[in-house]
Amino acid sequence: MRIILIGPPGAGKGTQCQKLVNLLRVPHLSTGEMLRAAVKAGTPEGVEATAYMEQGRLVPDALILGMVTRRLEAADCRAGCLLDGFPRTLPQAATLDDLLERRAMSVDGVIELAVPRDELIRRMLARKRADDNPEIFSKRITSFEEQTAPLLDYYQRQGKLASIDGLGTADEIFSRVREALRRFARAQGRRAHRPSPLPDV
Ligand code: AP5
Ligand code: MG
Repeated sequence: MRIILIGPPGAGKGTQCQKLVNLLRVPHLSTGEMLRAAVKAGTPEGVEATAYMEQGRLVPDALILGMVTRRLEAADCRAGCLLDGFPRTLPQAATLDDLLERRAMSVDGVIELAVPRDELIRRMLARKRADDNPEIFSKRITSFEEQTAPLLDYYQRQGKLASIDGLGTADEIFSRVREALRRFARAQGRRAHRPSPLPDV
């Protein structure tokens, strides 16, 4: 079971993934968290990523792909994972598809959390992460619109996209997330002409 969460900064990807981990019992892979850990530990990848993250720009694809590939190959990801903040560019999405295909696996579904800009800003102001200041935040939103939003079309064409309203309480949004998972299972069942291996949620 491989589920991707896509949404602008502050959309609630991390919040919903925490809830999904309890439901699905698969690891939560957040590339933002992985990068922040690498920056803190001072690894070569962390050192390279710092300037990009501080400016609200995406780090280079090669760096992210190296990091994610290693993580996806770990034993705990064999049964699946939740991908939060990855892929974020079309080359990242194409590489992920290739990588999974070589292992006879695929992305099961992609959930878009749609949240208007004024609410994103309100959430950002209520939090205090190093890259949460109005100027950098606005650059992160632009990176999302220019480089990540095209992925919605990419996954829509594969019939894997569920776009949900990301406004409301975290629990209200989580029930929409569960409904999206049920839709993925039904669509998979129809494609394979047999019940989907996705868990009953
Ligand atoms: P990343 O860490 O992924 O940050 P992001 O996409 O900007 O998203 P956030 O983590 O800020 O928001 P979120 O959607 O997880 O929301 P959250 O649940 O925290 O990436 C950081 C940087 O790393 C990037 O800018 C880039 O430089 C680099 N990077 C990462 N991945 C990359 C990749 N694949 N390629 C290249 N570069 C990459 O919620 C936000 C806040 O709102 C929280 O305070 C939360 O409590 C609150 N909240 C959540 N839900 C609700 C709700 N329903 N109502 C009210 N408040 C809510
Ligand atoms: Mg996050």
